[in-house]
Amino acid sequence: MSTESTEGFKPVEATHIRLGVVGAGYVGLTTGACFAHLGHHVVCGDIDQRKVNMLNGGRIPIVEKGLERLVNENRALGRIEFVLGSAAAAVEADIVFLCVPTPQDEDGSADLSYLQQAAREIAPVLKPGAVVVNKSTVPVGSTIAVENVLQRNDVFVVSNPEFLREGTAVSDFLKPDRVVVGAANRAAAEQVAALYASIDTAIIVTDPVSAETIKYAANGFLAMKISFVNAVAAMCEHVGADVGAVVDGIGSDTRIGMRFLNPGPGWGGSCFPKDSRALVKIADDYGYDFSMMRGAITVNDEQRRRMVEKIAKAVGRHQSDLSGVTVGALGLTFKAGTDDLRESPAIAIITELLELGAGVRAFDPTTSGELSPHQETLLAGVELVSEPMEIGDGVDVVCVFTEWPEFAQIDLDSLAKRVGKGTTIVDTRNLLDPDQVKNAGLRYDGVGRR
Ligand code: UDX
Ligand code: UDX
Repeated sequence: MSTESTEGFKPVEATHIRLGVVGAGYVGLTTGACFAHLGHHVVCGDIDQRKVNMLNGGRIPIVEKGLERLVNENRALGRIEFVLGSAAAAVEADIVFLCVPTPQDEDGSADLSYLQQAAREIAPVLKPGAVVVNKSTVPVGSTIAVENVLQRNDVFVVSNPEFLREGTAVSDFLKPDRVVVGAANRAAAEQVAALYASIDTAIIVTDPVSAETIKYAANGFLAMKISFVNAVAAMCEHVGADVGAVVDGIGSDTRIGMRFLNPGPGWGGSCFPKDSRALVKIADDYGYDFSMMRGAITVNDEQRRRMVEKIAKAVGRHQSDLSGVTVGALGLTFKAGTDDLRESPAIAIITELLELGAGVRAFDPTTSGELSPHQETLLAGVELVSEPMEIGDGVDVVCVFTEWPEFAQIDLDSLAKRVGKGTTIVDTRNLLDPDQVKNAGLRYDGVGRR
């Protein structure tokens, strides 16, 4: 659990605005805590009693830098409280944020059942003139869909998409590049925009369909950017170029920029995979074949397979059979700074390795304690250890799957002693220094690195 500080973010004086937040997950809890920090009175509702109890006891159910302190500072100020259910969060609110999950359905579209259920529950208790805000990533057209469920002529629905990266969500909320507000009603848009008045940022006010499209287009573009660099990394391996030099060379062009150009095992997480598929599906539903986005998804799938190929190659085997091979995995979460395993490339690759007959021993800083039922399901068949070095004895290959800073500091000489000299480290994040790995007597294979 994080106890990092939120220094640099000065609490703002209390306002008289009352907010309800429905869903206290990664997005809802960050949204609620940050709005409380900005002076508003927030009531967060969640259907999970265990979560509500934890939060009311000052404990945070997720790993998110700065969040624990923000929640507890604002609990002490009486600005945030946690209740069971959606209606209880909405009953006295001027503005209600819907932050429930929109998971992917079988056909790639977003499953709106949680959103609709939340809207049904709050509809009878909303104050006249209240504003309901879609904060979760929802398909284009959801503002109207929520209006249709609410059936309240005296309530307005607004789109205000989140752009929060897990691990830096608090800082992304309080220092955003922009805030997007999509509304058919100007006054409702202004009410939502006013919540961010104490933040120095651009506020883009537009119509709901454009706001909803901005969210998908932003995540789709970032996913394409990463797929592009992963494809360039693959090309580097063919032509003998070094992707680090190529990224320096292209990223220094301010039109391209350095950010989101790190090659890796493919993008994962709760958003990019689901949103990129939803973008293709939405475009398709409206008669447009978004082939560029489909291409980025294909590259991402290939990237995970390429990592499995590298692992097979490192142990001198074909990709079709890894029986008897033991893989040591450093990192399981979809990126560093979070405990989230949703759509983690590490899990996808490990699942493939297990299917090919390999055994996997893994360490991740967020799975060394008691596991949640969700973690247990995803990690079935994986032997978990509680120290990075413990992956060592008897493994045939070591893989770095997540860029946790502590892996960059790992004692390579000690690791070499545990795993045996000549063992390969497949560094899917290009985190380690290849020369240091080689100096320790180990072999190195990164992504697009010479
Ligand atoms: C969000 C958004 O929902 C998703 O659209 C976005 O793209 C990614 O982030 P997130 O906050 O990450 O989801 O999900 P999660 O951490 O699972 O939190 C959702 C919370 O809503 C959970 O605490 C869950 O218990 C709660 N919930 C779910 C409700 O309160 N009511 C429901 O009906 C369903
Ligand atoms: C994303 C969006 O960035 C954020 O604005 C919001 O819409 C929620 O979804 P998040 O999923 O938390 O945030 O993670 P992000 O930092 O965007 O990374 C997504 C994936 O891309 C991770 O698997 C990460 O490791 C990978 N990635 C990211 C790379 O492989 N290379 C990069 O350069 C950046």
